[in-house]
Amino acid sequence: MSEKKQATWGGRFSEGPADQMVRFSESVSFDQRLAPYDIQGSMAHARMLASVGLVSEEEAAAICSGLERIGEEIRSGNFTWDPAFEDVHMNIEQALTKAVPEAAKLHTARSRNDQVATDMRLFFMDAGEQLASVLKGLMRALLNQAEAVREIAIPGYTHLQRAQPVSMAHHLLAYMEMFSRDLERVQEFDKRARVCPLGSGAIAGTTLPIDREFVARELGFVDEQGNPQVTRNSMDAVADRDLFIEFAGVCSLVATHLSRVAEDIILWSSQEFGFVRLPDAYTTGSSLMPQKKNPDSLELIRGKSARIMGQLTTLLTLVKGLPLTYNRDLQEDKPPVFDCLDMTLDCLLVLEGTIAGMAVNPEPCKKAVSDPLLLATDLVDYLVLKGVPFRDAHHIVGALVGLSEKSACSLNDIPLDEAQKICPQIEADWTECFSVKKALSLRERPGMPGPQQIGVELKRWKTVLNS
Ligand code: ARG
Repeated sequence: MSEKKQATWGGRFSEGPADQMVRFSESVSFDQRLAPYDIQGSMAHARMLASVGLVSEEEAAAICSGLERIGEEIRSGNFTWDPAFEDVHMNIEQALTKAVPEAAKLHTARSRNDQVATDMRLFFMDAGEQLASVLKGLMRALLNQAEAVREIAIPGYTHLQRAQPVSMAHHLLAYMEMFSRDLERVQEFDKRARVCPLGSGAIAGTTLPIDREFVARELGFVDEQGNPQVTRNSMDAVADRDLFIEFAGVCSLVATHLSRVAEDIILWSSQEFGFVRLPDAYTTGSSLMPQKKNPDSLELIRGKSARIMGQLTTLLTLVKGLPLTYNRDLQEDKPPVFDCLDMTLDCLLVLEGTIAGMAVNPEPCKKAVSDPLLLATDLVDYLVLKGVPFRDAHHIVGALVGLSEKSACSLNDIPLDEAQKICPQIEADWTECFSVKKALSLRERPGMPGPQQIGVELKRWKTVLNS
């Protein structure tokens, strides 16, 4: 048994927790990263206590300057974290009270339950900002590549079978859509994070005359008009972990997108496709096979995305069976969130580096896209314009494809008279359908891969990213 009694809650206990319990119960090893938010929250709380007369201005000032000194110690790595004090909150309060006796009043009208909820909301506001800025970095790299490959056409795939030609820019801009939706989700998440739980106490608020709006304003928990926002139910405020789950959800969706991009580029960089060359700086070699250059950055992104999604499941499972309100299970809510943020930021940055350094091989792209079968659908459209009903036209072109396969003659080399035997509406100009350039230029309506549309989109994205 540890001799040390718990100073913060030890009043009713005759002995301290077992060493094993101390180890089992501590969270300071991971929640110490909340220190800046905890200090920020405590300062706002102290100033509020002074503003309503629960502490004197001098006491609040002493508490705040003590907190500043502790913040400095933590930043410089000179603070000693003690697992006996469980978590970041109690470690800071203990150290503060030792240095500043007035700090014995700091915990007036607050509980660790509303403190931890507040710290995490401050963390989430920061995390949202970091995610948004790193997402934009990746989007810039994608946009630069899309601009560089405007003229390059490649096959687009469905079922990983060649389908129709697109420009490589169109393919890359599809990722821009995904990541911009992620950016929107981050922004919506940030709005929901900006509500202050402090003042909820452990579960039922406090009898003391606190000013919740004061704290909310101090900490930036305000709406777009600058009005302070406070949580409306003290029980929900300390029990709710929706933001944690939402955050892991946002990260999981980012990770899903990252993983899909990674998968495409892994394929493109394989010898079978050969569309792109990856930068040496983001690939690795084999310990045995001297010729290998492996797309490890992308494979790790694909792998780490699984871990991010796992954290979402952890959080959902953690919360689903809990009775209201706070239960100690909830201490396990932080590692998954921290892991989600760290992994997602890392993956975004690594993909940005990989994409920025990726070089396109025009020849293999040209060879792949010159497969005339990619334009079979355009041939159907050609017949539709000649008045052939779509279903019939589809069937006719299917027969032509069958004939080309049987006679080992590529679709565009079938003699006109042979083609006309299958469909008399086919005329000499049918071979124009097999120009990739023409095929793309005919696709100039919104959302399509025509070169002018791509131009419009590239410009639009530039404006979006610069705003
Ligand atoms: N370290 C705890 C956590 O992260 C802080 C809240 C403790 N509250 C309590 N009632 N024991 O969840």
